[in-house]
Amino acid sequence: MKGVVLAGGSGTRLRPLTRVVNKHILPIYDEPMIYYPVKTLLDAGIEDILVISNAEHIGKYMELLELDFDANFSYKVQSEPKGIAHGVSLAEEFVDGEDFAVILGDNILLGDLSEEVKQFEETEEGAKIFLKQVDEPAAYGIAWVDGEEVTKIEEKPDHPDSDHAVIGLYLYHADVFEKIEDLTPSDRGEYEITDVNKRYVDEGTLGFEEVQGRWFDSGTPEGLFQASKAARDRKT
Ligand code: G1P
Repeated sequence: MKGVVLAGGSGTRLRPLTRVVNKHILPIYDEPMIYYPVKTLLDAGIEDILVISNAEHIGKYMELLELDFDANFSYKVQSEPKGIAHGVSLAEEFVDGEDFAVILGDNILLGDLSEEVKQFEETEEGAKIFLKQVDEPAAYGIAWVDGEEVTKIEEKPDHPDSDHAVIGLYLYHADVFEKIEDLTPSDRGEYEITDVNKRYVDEGTLGFEEVQGRWFDSGTPEGLFQASKAARDRKT
């Protein structure tokens, strides 16, 4: 299994912190944000990792990650912030037909995922998403589940009657690239990963797992603060 870290975007919700630096370099307690998704992949046994960021910052990640990690990193530029699904499409050559995990660079997961990754590698079709119950579901992609099945998935619905957030970690087989090709941009002008995952819901092949460990979306000031607190609690 390969891994893709999406570390582009413009970080608008974190302005002015992100006016001149890329969000994923900001500190989560005592480490740059991007160290967390990289460690999540490494801890799950994934060592071939593609980091995608914008042209302005990719060089910094190349410099930084090689200093502190012993993994096989590749790098790719996402020249415009056209969304998560667009970012994933840039990984097609790197993935080269293998299964892969995508993790958003601002998603901080403090649990172990190696078992889920292993299980997914034994499957031949579909995709897997990870869910966490949240207090403010309108801020996330939301899934509705019935028993073992995901019945519906929506990107930031207004008043959802489900509180299962779809976190920024996704497992795919290489067939995902065909699904991305058919997408059209959403109202916010982005190619949404939720639209990709909807195709799997329609096919009845979208698996899910409730995340056991703690999870933070550190792309907001509050998320950044809470993730830092949790990281500090874990270390002290
Ligand atoms: C993205 C996804 C959303 C997901 C969230 C998790 O949202 O589009 O479905 O719940 O990450 O962090 P964004 O942070 O790009 O608004």
